[in-house]
Amino acid sequence: MTEFQSDPHLARATAPVVKAQDLAFVMFERPDLDLMARFLGDFGMKQAERSDDRLVMRGARGPGPAHVTWKAAKPCFKGFALRVADRSDLDALAALPEASGIEPLDLPGGGLHVRLKDPAGFDIWAVAEQAPIATDEIRAPTPANTPIERDRLNAGVRPPPSPATVLRPGHCVLGVLEFLETAQWYIQTFGLIPSDIQYLDDGTPALTFLRCDRGAEPADHHTVVVSQNVTNTYSHSAYEVIDLDDVAMGQEFLLSKGWKHAWGVGRHLLGSQIFDYWRDPYGDKVEHYADGDLFDASVETGHSLLNAAGLYQWGPPVPKDFEKPKLTPGFLLKVIGNIRKSRELSFARVKRLMAAIDAPSRPWLK
Ligand SMILES: [Fe+2]
Repeated sequence: MTEFQSDPHLARATAPVVKAQDLAFVMFERPDLDLMARFLGDFGMKQAERSDDRLVMRGARGPGPAHVTWKAAKPCFKGFALRVADRSDLDALAALPEASGIEPLDLPGGGLHVRLKDPAGFDIWAVAEQAPIATDEIRAPTPANTPIERDRLNAGVRPPPSPATVLRPGHCVLGVLEFLETAQWYIQTFGLIPSDIQYLDDGTPALTFLRCDRGAEPADHHTVVVSQNVTNTYSHSAYEVIDLDDVAMGQEFLLSKGWKHAWGVGRHLLGSQIFDYWRDPYGDKVEHYADGDLFDASVETGHSLLNAAGLYQWGPPVPKDFEKPKLTPGFLLKVIGNIRKSRELSFARVKRLMAAIDAPSRPWLK
């Protein structure tokens, strides 16, 4: 293993355009909104608005929607929205050459937004001044009897047999052709801080977990993750739920409804979340998580090797199809074209990426 090579593209921004505060919502196009409404309801979101051409789902906490689906003939991930502090942040973003002006946000809770595109072509909106659309009553986390604190006396653990309680969207993970260029765009435009950078076995970086810079106020270990891939693609989006029981009972409920499980329950390494992944009706991954790390701006960037073992500390083995697309002839042709035109990818680099993903995560398991 060579030394990890620090790359100036991934250095913290000294003067970012703005400092994003959180993930606001994710945006999809889907042919069947009824199907999406059923799945997302069983996943634990609540319907905030439904029309013939749009489905807006929300969590129990956080201003504004969590998940927006527009009706379209072909299923497609469009992008996501980041929340910024105020109108002056929107002014700064609207002054960028590729940005839209400041426009009203036509979604429940209103507000304002500026539309941008990241270098991978995803729609990235900055939103502000949303009015809260939900502060639902939620159950308290299950009290635990630990060796130190005995918090549950004369009572059992009986989480309700219901969907998980989605509180808010937590993060969105992208695969991109031009990794350094795209990660740098998020760092410089939205002030995101690399919490962790992961490297291939030649010492070059290929993935970064980015968190919001809220100064002394802690933020999720990652809000956006950018990783190198052979196509510009959505990996997954993740939604915070109450606790381990909520993650696990959420799994029971989704299984009872016949939805497709992807991976879990386990605990991640970088970010430490207890996770459980599901496939939406169009095969895209969505994640329930609880108990993730919270870092303020003082925590320095971590550096580690990229491999499947680094995805989790405990849990079932990573399924073979978790990060791998179906290798159809059309897909392979597209990949070859992408590698040829990419400034950052080469066939040798793709081989290293594949080796990192393919390495057994638990080599001692037979
Ligand atoms: Fe995740």
